[in-house]
Amino acid sequence: MHVEENVPTARQYGTGWYLALWSGELTEGDVVPLKYFGRDLVAFRGDSGKAFILDAHCLHMGAHLGYGGEVVGDDLMCPFHNWQWRGADGANSNIPYLDRCIKKQLKTWLVHEQDGLIYFWFSRTGSEEPTYFPPKVIEAGRSDFYPVYPHGALKVEVTFPPQFAFENVADLSHLRTVHKWAEVPELNGAGAYGDMFHTDLTGTVPTRSGGATVRNENWQWGPGLIYSRLHGLHPTGQITAATPIDHETSSYSMSVWVQRIGEGEVPVGRAKAVIEEQRRQALNAEGNDRIIWDNMVYLDNAALVGDERKTIGVHRVWFQRFRSDTPPPTPPPIPVPEGTPYPQPTIEDDLDTASGSISESPAVHSTAETLQGG
Ligand code: FES
Ligand SMILES: [Fe+2]
Repeated sequence: MHVEENVPTARQYGTGWYLALWSGELTEGDVVPLKYFGRDLVAFRGDSGKAFILDAHCLHMGAHLGYGGEVVGDDLMCPFHNWQWRGADGANSNIPYLDRCIKKQLKTWLVHEQDGLIYFWFSRTGSEEPTYFPPKVIEAGRSDFYPVYPHGALKVEVTFPPQFAFENVADLSHLRTVHKWAEVPELNGAGAYGDMFHTDLTGTVPTRSGGATVRNENWQWGPGLIYSRLHGLHPTGQITAATPIDHETSSYSMSVWVQRIGEGEVPVGRAKAVIEEQRRQALNAEGNDRIIWDNMVYLDNAALVGDERKTIGVHRVWFQRFRSDTPPPTPPPIPVPEGTPYPQPTIEDDLDTASGSISESPAVHSTAETLQGG
């Protein structure tokens, strides 16, 4: 059994891919201390360009390699007595005053770098291998979108675990009450597909020129990542990530790719407004659901009613697969009906509809609310 006794269900760590940091925070030769899952870690980028994450404390006498450690090739050298540890497997690779190495090995963490994000794999049992990979972001790497880092990279420390926030993808009614949508949005489809939970909804958000119909697609991959796309306003893709720092706190972040306006490297106009609204969402403790998540208790026996059982209820059943040895079966999904309400929108569809006027809140506010997964 790997259930963490005395830790409430929703705060137990789930197996999956999590965001560690942005590629732009770890350039060649950088060494960065991290703390996730209650452990001290160190990230560094070797001379080969590869990113590594290891347990932080040197196995000689315990110095933290993230404070004063130096990159040597693809190894990390401890600041205390200059012992070296290999990024690839954590093996001891040099002791400057001994003609051999010792057999001790630091724990290494599986790293996957993609789209300007550095992900790492957490296994609650310590032995589970990845069964999926982080979602590929369609908007990333495109010349007509701004790079995610630094302007679209937003992060804050919060007191809620991933599940509090991520149930949002399946919580339709709060879009009206918290995010001021005109009505509870229409659910086009929802449900679990293995390690991925998908929701697709259409609703009306207020804009300066009246209500605008938007479609929001969310793909939650594992317990720590959501890829969202919004159709109908300024073209934007987003990875929302929550990585437990320990059982009480998490790193909550948004990686926002917005369509480029003009030639510059710094987002302007509507693109800037979308990011600024996300910053308000991520960093402000008031006026959105962050203050609710920061202060709520998680009811395992929540009084879900009506369609909430098919959305939030199924999401909760699905989430257990990442932290239980014997997860319950997840009910079959409600598939998105073909052609409803837009036939599989593409970036190009968005570009066609992007000429609408969105300069300030509440229009952009609504955009942002939607992007964060509701
Ligand atoms: S503690 Fe790291 S080399 Fe001594
Ligand atoms: Fe929300």
